[in-house]
Amino acid sequence: MDKQETPVLFQPVKFASVTSKNRIVMAPMVTNFSNLDAEVTDRQIRYYAERARGGAGTIVVEASNVQPDIRISARQIGSYEDRFIPGLSNVASSIKSHGTVALLQLLHGGPKVLPDMACESASPVSVRVGQVPRQLSLSDLRRIRQAYVRAASRAKKAGFDGVEINGGTCHQINTFLSRVWNKRDDEFGPQSIENRTRFMCNIVREIKKRLGKDFPVTVLINIVEYRHPRGTTIEEGVQIAKYLEAAGADAIQCRAHSYHHRDGLIQPEKMFYPELPEDAPKDLDWSRKGKGALVPLVEAVKKVVKVPVFCACRLDPVIGEEYLRAGKLDFVGMTRRLLADPELPNKVIEGRLEDIRPCTGCLHCIDVRNKNQLLECMVNASLNKEREYIFDFKPAAKKKRVMVVGGGPSGLEAALVARQRGHEVSLFEKGRIGGLVPIAAVLKDFEAPDYLALIEYYKTQLKKHGIPVTRGKSVSVKDAGAFQPDALILASGALPSRLEIPGSDGKNVLHSSQLHKQVRFFMKFFSPLALQTLTKIWMPIGKRVVIAGGSIMGCETADFLIKRGRKVTIVHEGSTLGEGIPIEDLMRLIPWLDKKGIVRYLEAKFEEVTAAGLVITTKEGERKTLPADTVLVTLPYLPDKDILKRYAGKAKEIHAIGNCAEPGLIYNAIAAGARIAREI
Ligand SMILES: Cc1cc2nc3c(=O)[nH]c(=O)nc-3n(C[C@H](O)[C@H](O)[C@H](O)COP(=O)(O)O)c2cc1C
Ligand code: SF4
Repeated sequence: MDKQETPVLFQPVKFASVTSKNRIVMAPMVTNFSNLDAEVTDRQIRYYAERARGGAGTIVVEASNVQPDIRISARQIGSYEDRFIPGLSNVASSIKSHGTVALLQLLHGGPKVLPDMACESASPVSVRVGQVPRQLSLSDLRRIRQAYVRAASRAKKAGFDGVEINGGTCHQINTFLSRVWNKRDDEFGPQSIENRTRFMCNIVREIKKRLGKDFPVTVLINIVEYRHPRGTTIEEGVQIAKYLEAAGADAIQCRAHSYHHRDGLIQPEKMFYPELPEDAPKDLDWSRKGKGALVPLVEAVKKVVKVPVFCACRLDPVIGEEYLRAGKLDFVGMTRRLLADPELPNKVIEGRLEDIRPCTGCLHCIDVRNKNQLLECMVNASLNKEREYIFDFKPAAKKKRVMVVGGGPSGLEAALVARQRGHEVSLFEKGRIGGLVPIAAVLKDFEAPDYLALIEYYKTQLKKHGIPVTRGKSVSVKDAGAFQPDALILASGALPSRLEIPGSDGKNVLHSSQLHKQVRFFMKFFSPLALQTLTKIWMPIGKRVVIAGGSIMGCETADFLIKRGRKVTIVHEGSTLGEGIPIEDLMRLIPWLDKKGIVRYLEAKFEEVTAAGLVITTKEGERKTLPADTVLVTLPYLPDKDILKRYAGKAKEIHAIGNCAEPGLIYNAIAAGARIAREI
């Protein structure tokens, strides 16, 4: 972004009676922070306050349910009774006190709710929801319309500036808007756009009538639906938007939905995992790997309406500014980027783009949401820890000399936070900064998840905070003692796994640690991006590869090798492939492996490696030789159990964190680094 020019991003924009101080809208995100009675918690208030303090112009608070028995997650926030008003009021005031517009999203889950909830829809049509919904009667519709109006009225009483009506995805309102669901023969049926929009327009009109035309009512709708013959077309989506504007909608958030991929195209960059399908929707913009994919929909709607129109689709401030300047968007919707770094807007205003902690697009947040757990972010360890005393960021009571051994994510986070708390910190890394992360970046596509941006962020922060980094030398126990640290943080990584079977030291066996070593060697000469391309031409790995170990590391390596023309077979001792991969990614990976004809053996036993390949006993008890030029071992890494003993006595306090203490995911590593740095 050009620092000389005033970004359009920071120009105010008015809708209905309110003015958003800038064009950054934090789009809604279920946090699961409410209690089981659907009430707001202190954690939630603090979470929203932080994001408002960070400078967002408008915040749309997560989907609140307007009816008690239609929850989409166990800890969803409620707006269906007056008892919620005090809690909602705390959320609204925590947002508004920072000059940010506060909207509350209102939702009736419709057919897409928790399994024990009422499953209701325009028609008794079951589309990937597992059960046939009950058809809503005309009196049900009046009741639900009233539920929306009352929920909006509570939002107003609580001090919200307005509401967003969620008519997207395959929630209840969309079962009327979309011909996929709507088979009614009354005036709410699919016969015309007017009939399809009648239910949602009635809700908008009624809220306006009861709460005044100045009370902002914005809408979220699917402009297009793919992979179903009766899915909404763009032409229809644009007409739907027009009807909603005529009914009084003050802004329109546009979505694309797909009846093939789980959760549709809400995170469009995920279409690239593992590969962009040949039949990816042509109307969307795939030129930026999913960033801005939905913008063509917004452009189409903008041609026919006057109210502000926007979308959220992996946009960032720089790309968002481009679209704003080109007149393609009125707001820039961002969700996960504000989860990763709530201060993003202020950092952009201050011209500190390099200080923004980047969202990697890993989908850990969606994964925990799907498991009904509190929202977590891979790169932002303090999220949801607001109530733990330790995550109150306090300057260190006593400045210590801190030695951090290991520059992977746990060591980097520990070094940075310890320094920010005022300690004197030195970091030691024998190889490349980032530990296994740059290797993971080579093995994965770069844009999603964007691991390299995360490492660049840490490198910049090390420099900015004046943390000296010593590279290229292992820190021996003696070195650690000689450095005389007050606190020694050992983040030196895990031990390689072993395949303890006859023949496992054969020439045709390659352990993932050896593969990583090779990648590391070539990274001395080539950038990760260049390596990605070069490995498409040559790799020291045979044509037929049997992968021993099918958890996240095995699957990601398989993905990499398949794309490089290797004939891959995966053998896994466990019963489920891809442990550690977010479910949304797994649901894309498995069909892709099927499409590529990749043979997998689950619950298999490794027997021996011979010159012919890997011998296994299958789940069914059959002994089998799987022909392989290379047997690639991707079993989980092992903890360095003796590390604390080895370094004992070399500092007043010694801590082992990250993979050397407990091998895990990047999320676990960063969380461990953040925690220990707050404890010392
Ligand atoms: C954890 C999580 C929860 C979400 N919850 C909601 C929600 O409550 N209502 C909604 O309309 N969209 C929800 N979304 C979708 C986001 O609002 C947004 O459309 C999507 O994440 C794409 O924007 P982004 O690329 O900036 O993250 C959620 C997304 C995430 C990651
Ligand atoms: S870094 Fe991962 S967990 Fe955090 S917001 Fe981005 S996608 Fe979600």
